[in-house]
Amino acid sequence: MLLAEPYRIKVVEPIARTTREERERFITEAGYNTFLLRSKDVYLDFLTDSGTSAMSDNQWAGMMLGDEAYAGSRNFLALQETVRRYYGFAYMVPTHQGRGAENLLSRILIKPGDYIPGNMYFTTTRAHQELNGGTFVDVIVDEAHDATADLPFKGNVDLTKLESLIARVGPERIPYISLAVTVNLAGGQPVSMANMRAVKQIAERHGINVMLDATRCVENAYFIKEREAGYAGQTIAEILLEMMSYSDGCTMSGKKDCLVNIGGFLAMNDESLYQRACELVVLFEGMPTYGGLAGRDMEAMARGIVESLDYDYIAHRIAQVRYLGEALRAAGVAIVEPIGGHAVFLDARRFLAHLTQDEFPAQSLAAHLYIEGGVRAMERGIVSAGRDDDGNQRYPKLELVRLAIPRRVYTYAHLDVAAEAVIQLFRHRDEIPGLTMVYEPRILRFFTARFEPIAKPEADLTRAREASIASVH
Ligand code: F0G
Repeated sequence: MLLAEPYRIKVVEPIARTTREERERFITEAGYNTFLLRSKDVYLDFLTDSGTSAMSDNQWAGMMLGDEAYAGSRNFLALQETVRRYYGFAYMVPTHQGRGAENLLSRILIKPGDYIPGNMYFTTTRAHQELNGGTFVDVIVDEAHDATADLPFKGNVDLTKLESLIARVGPERIPYISLAVTVNLAGGQPVSMANMRAVKQIAERHGINVMLDATRCVENAYFIKEREAGYAGQTIAEILLEMMSYSDGCTMSGKKDCLVNIGGFLAMNDESLYQRACELVVLFEGMPTYGGLAGRDMEAMARGIVESLDYDYIAHRIAQVRYLGEALRAAGVAIVEPIGGHAVFLDARRFLAHLTQDEFPAQSLAAHLYIEGGVRAMERGIVSAGRDDDGNQRYPKLELVRLAIPRRVYTYAHLDVAAEAVIQLFRHRDEIPGLTMVYEPRILRFFTARFEPIAKPEADLTRAREASIASVH
C-alpha cells in the first residue's frame, strides 16, 4: 500500500513537456552537463533536493511576518530558539546556505597542514577544507564505497580508520572530525546512533571536536527509528536531539531538511567559537543576526525545522524515495543498495559496463536520461570527484547518477514516469556512448564542465534511436 501524501495541494506550478528532438538540442547546447540545462526545459527535476522543497502554508504565512531590521530581527530570535530547542546547540549564526557555514567553520578551525577526517567527502565541504590548507581523510566504512553492499548504516565511520589517523598524525593536527549524517555521496546512507556515540567518545579521549554536517539529519533520525534497536518508540525530535548531543556543533544547509529554498546556519556550544563566527560572518554573509538571509527566510526556516520533525512528513518522504528505487530494482536496474534517504542512485558502472571511467559513464547516463524522458539527474562520480592538489585525476570507486527527490513536490505518478524513462534507457544501454571533457573548470568542475559524445559509427546511432521510444510524452 502506498503511504499517501500527508498534505493536499494548494498551489500548482506547470511544468514543460518537450520532444526528444528538442531535448537532444538542449543537452548538446548544455555541453552534456545537466547543470547547464534551463529549468524550463526539464520535465522532472531530480537534479537536487536542495532548495527545491515546497514550503507549507504555515511557512508562507511566516514569510509575511519578516522583520527586516538590520540587527536583532525577531525572526532571528525565533530561529535561534528553534535551533536551541530541537538541535540543542546554545549558539547559532545564520548563513545564506550550507557552504557559507562551511566557509566560516573551515576558516576558523583549520590551519595549513591539518587533517580533517570525515565519513566520505562532500564537494563543497572538502573544497573549503582544502582551501584552508587542510587535507580531507575519508574514514567511512569500506562498504560505503561498494554500491552493492546492503547494510542498514552504511554511512558509519570506520572507528579503526579514525583511530589510526589520530595515531599517525596526532590529535593536534586534527581540528575536528567532520561527521555527515545520511551521507550524500554514499547514496544517502545513514549513520547509526551507536556509531555517532563511539565517534564522540574517541574524539573526547583525544580532545578533538566533532562537527556534524547536519544537512539531512532528519532523514538520518528516521532511519535510526526504523532500523536501530531501542529507538522505535522514540519521536524523531528525541532521536535528533540525541544525535546532536554527540557533537560540538554543526553546519547546516537549511535547503534540505529545514524545508526552505534558501538558508543555512553554523551552530555550536562553545562560546569562543561563536564569537569568532560572529566576527567572520560579518565579512562573508552579513550581521550575526541575519547572516545573508532576509528576516522572512529565517522565519520560514524556523517553521520548516518544526515541520520536518513530524513523523508523517518524514515517513512519506522516505516512502517516496523507496518507491522509485523499488520500481527500478524490480526492472533489474543497478542501483545503490540500500535505497537511501534523499535520492535513488543509479550505479553507472554496472549500467554502462561497456564504458571506462575515463569516458565519464555517470555524466553520459545523466545526459541520456534527460534525452530519454526530460528527467534531470546529477553525476556523482569521476567528474564530481575532481583532481587532487597535484592535479591528478581522482578515481572514485562510486560512479553514480543521483535522482534526488525534492520534498513535498512530486507525486507517485511523477515517480512512475521517471522510472519508466530509466527502464527504457536501461533496455538500450549498450548504445549509450562515452563522453570527452572539452572544458574543465579548476574548482568544483562538475557545475560548469562541458562534454561531447565520443563519436560512434553512424549505424550505431541510428540503431540507438530506433530502439528507444520516440518521446515519452
Ligand atoms: N553538505 C551536504 C551533505 C550537502 O549535500 C550540501 C549540498 C552541502 C553540505 C552544502 O550546502 O548547498 O546549502 O551550500 N548539497 C546539494 C546537493 C548541493 O545537491 O546535494 P549548500
